[in-house]
Amino acid sequence: MKDAAPSMVLLSEYRAPDWHVDHLDLCFELDPVATRVESRIRVRRAVGTEPGVALRLHGQALELLRLEVDGSPAEADAVTADDEGLLLTGLPDTAEITVETRIRPDANTALEGLYVSGGSLCTQCEAEGFRRITYFPDRPDILTRYRVRLEADAARYPVLLANGNRVEAGALPGGRHYAVWEDPFPKPSYLFALVAGDLTCVSDRFTTRSGREVALEVYVEHHNRERCDHALASLKRAMRYDEDAFGREYDLDVYMIVAVDAFNMGAMENKGLNLFNAKYVLASPDTATDDDYVQIESVIAHEYFHNWSGNRVTCRDWFQLSLKEGLTVFRDQEFTTDCTLFGAKRIDDVQRLRAFQFPEDAGPLAHPVRPDRYAEINNFYTMTVYEKGAELIRMLRTLIGRETFRRGLDTYFERFDGQAVTTDDFVAVMAEVSGRDLGLFRRWYTQAGTPRVTACSTFDASAGRLRLQLEQRTPPTPGQDTKEPLHIPLKISLVGADGDRLEARLGDGPEAQEWVLELTDAEQVFELQGLAEAPAAISWLRGFSAPVLLDAGQDTAELAHLVAHDDDAFTRWDAAQSLLRRAVIARVGEAPDGTLEATLIRAMAALLEDSRVEPVLLASLLELPAHRELMESFEHADPVVIFEVREAVKKALFASLEPALSRRQGDPGALDNDAFTAEAMGGRRLLNRILALRVTLGARGALEDAETQYREARSQTLRMGALAAVNESPDALRAELLADFEGRYRDDPLVLDKWFALEAGSQVPGGFERLERLLEHPGFRWSNPNRVRAVLGPFMAANHRHFHHPDGEGYRRIAALIEHLDGLNPQTAARLVQPLTRWRRLDPGRSTEMHAALEQLAGKRLSRDLADVVQRALAP
Ligand code: BES
Ligand code: ZN
Repeated sequence: MKDAAPSMVLLSEYRAPDWHVDHLDLCFELDPVATRVESRIRVRRAVGTEPGVALRLHGQALELLRLEVDGSPAEADAVTADDEGLLLTGLPDTAEITVETRIRPDANTALEGLYVSGGSLCTQCEAEGFRRITYFPDRPDILTRYRVRLEADAARYPVLLANGNRVEAGALPGGRHYAVWEDPFPKPSYLFALVAGDLTCVSDRFTTRSGREVALEVYVEHHNRERCDHALASLKRAMRYDEDAFGREYDLDVYMIVAVDAFNMGAMENKGLNLFNAKYVLASPDTATDDDYVQIESVIAHEYFHNWSGNRVTCRDWFQLSLKEGLTVFRDQEFTTDCTLFGAKRIDDVQRLRAFQFPEDAGPLAHPVRPDRYAEINNFYTMTVYEKGAELIRMLRTLIGRETFRRGLDTYFERFDGQAVTTDDFVAVMAEVSGRDLGLFRRWYTQAGTPRVTACSTFDASAGRLRLQLEQRTPPTPGQDTKEPLHIPLKISLVGADGDRLEARLGDGPEAQEWVLELTDAEQVFELQGLAEAPAAISWLRGFSAPVLLDAGQDTAELAHLVAHDDDAFTRWDAAQSLLRRAVIARVGEAPDGTLEATLIRAMAALLEDSRVEPVLLASLLELPAHRELMESFEHADPVVIFEVREAVKKALFASLEPALSRRQGDPGALDNDAFTAEAMGGRRLLNRILALRVTLGARGALEDAETQYREARSQTLRMGALAAVNESPDALRAELLADFEGRYRDDPLVLDKWFALEAGSQVPGGFERLERLLEHPGFRWSNPNRVRAVLGPFMAANHRHFHHPDGEGYRRIAALIEHLDGLNPQTAARLVQPLTRWRRLDPGRSTEMHAALEQLAGKRLSRDLADVVQRALAP
């Protein structure tokens, strides 16, 4: 792959399709070794095209058995085969094309197209998997109605599912049977799905607000039947929420969810037939943690919400991916905020954004929310497209107001129903309903990189006036050397000396206590007037109103005042994060900042004593910025030093607070129940966090508490919390409990993944041998992405001492494993390789070693997916 520059797809080369597809008839004779697919495509030449213009049918890894046009074999000179598939020329203006192909699901290790998971056959078509099933114009702007006939062995595959409604089913000779499905909604090929398997169905009902009766069906392997209640309950909550909060109703008579073990991603929103990674469906208190419960609910909701934001209104081309993903992430975030986590949700989301999206935006893979080129679209399902994309939607709402935003969404869904559109179309609707000029705002979609905003304030006591001076600057990113100013909404308020919010007027606006400053220029000044007293602190960026890095030059006292008094949970937490980050940075410079640490200790002590601080918020307030996020604070950093300093700061801050920590820890017995309310989960989160902190501190009784909590736990949350707490401990207890856990859950793949993850992520000595043993463990499966991710992911993300071993052994081992994985599953390999792309940000020795490992990998025969990532990471 060494010098092959992968060919690029460019947004600027988008052209509307030359042919429409009026109908598609598919017939599958299903068999894992040889599946026969017969497809009848009714095509119609688009208005404004030349007669006889070529029709592109995409196809990949297909065996072509038959190709007919209007019932006669296609003329040889009218068919050209190339890398992409087939080109048909000389067609009449309307035609029926019949294509018969043969595929081999059991040899499909890429898990795109039709493949085998466990005993079932299933599909994954987004983004370009449909072309691995049959020849078809596989692009999202071609929408058509599907009729699908499935035939299979009745004993082996008693359940036969596809999109839409089942219109026919019956027995066939030779122990076979069939089912016919029709989807009344035109859809792009990426939303096609089928499933054949021996599955059990857990069902329920939902009545939409207009009175439509919907059957809800969750299909799982028989032994998982008892673990579906939470998924079904989540689905019903999501359906009701979409009606209440967004006015969106479901549109088919049945909504099906199928859980499969082998799945590249989390889940997929195929029309009426979602496919899910089993990890995001199955739950019981004994096997799933609170975080698992919350994630299941949010993934179920996300895929459900796509029925409108994605399926009814879809993407014109894959550059528009954020149109559906950013919007749907925004919608699922709102759902989890309003129904499950409340204030804690925003903090969790910003933490994720800072730990994963900011580094992406600052690294070699940086790209805009709407990219303008790609070599492999699979590599653009990124934190930027998803999470930053959701932030753009949130900023739009902040700028135009909630009610107008809601009207804009209604207009968008109504106007574009049944169409394939662009992010520009979306923003244009928001501009139209609000009457605002959002021209500048569009830059957020096209410009990569995280803006730096610097702020300073001066107070004129005699005039009662606060002058705010702001600057914005976005650093260059690959391919974008110069950056323009963006439209940034900065939500702020002022906190007085006694902790209350202050009133003032922005410019000649009305008296208020909170303002949205709209930054549009590189430098800007705002004035707040009519202030009766000097603010003790400014609460900047409330609710994280924009995805920026803010430097407001606040001193320790001002930040501590916010930690004590800010009424916005996010900025309160963020003030604590700033102080904690500074404490780490100071110690990396080898000089602990005594004043800062003393302030932090006092602040933490006050929080621990303050019973008004809810457990869930307290848990976040006690947490240091993540290792990944701290790495970003340095141009070049030694990951092991960052880890050690982070631990040292924990010890310096909390050693003297042990008694207070113990008092706030909570009683495991009382918290260990299967209530999944915010309050119950918050209590358990705090319990586990304090337990882990006390173990780190080497507090007296902490290991004993962990052991008791582990052994007496009824819930997975408490069991896992105890196990995670001892996972870095040199004590023999660690191995003892991990062995117990493995024995207990050996036959439960989803729980066993947690064990693999802890073993791989632990930095206790012998990490390479442990990695080796995990790969040789009888439960290890290269064919199961969850299992592979459970080992490689935590090894790279948490096992700093081994992954970042100074002699480069960690990098070389991982590179070799990724090369192996790439031969089987390119999409997963290209995702897992990402930690190896950060070589520029490491200390010189490690940087050289990581770079060398990556170069070596680049010299191998790689898939397009992996080659694309590796080449961008190495580009000068
Ligand atoms: N449409 C995606 C699934 C997908 C992604 C298919 C990439 C093919 C390639 C789905 O809606 C999705 O976004 N899933 C997320 C989870 C979600 C809760 C953010 C995933 O799979 O990670
Ligand atoms: Zn999605």
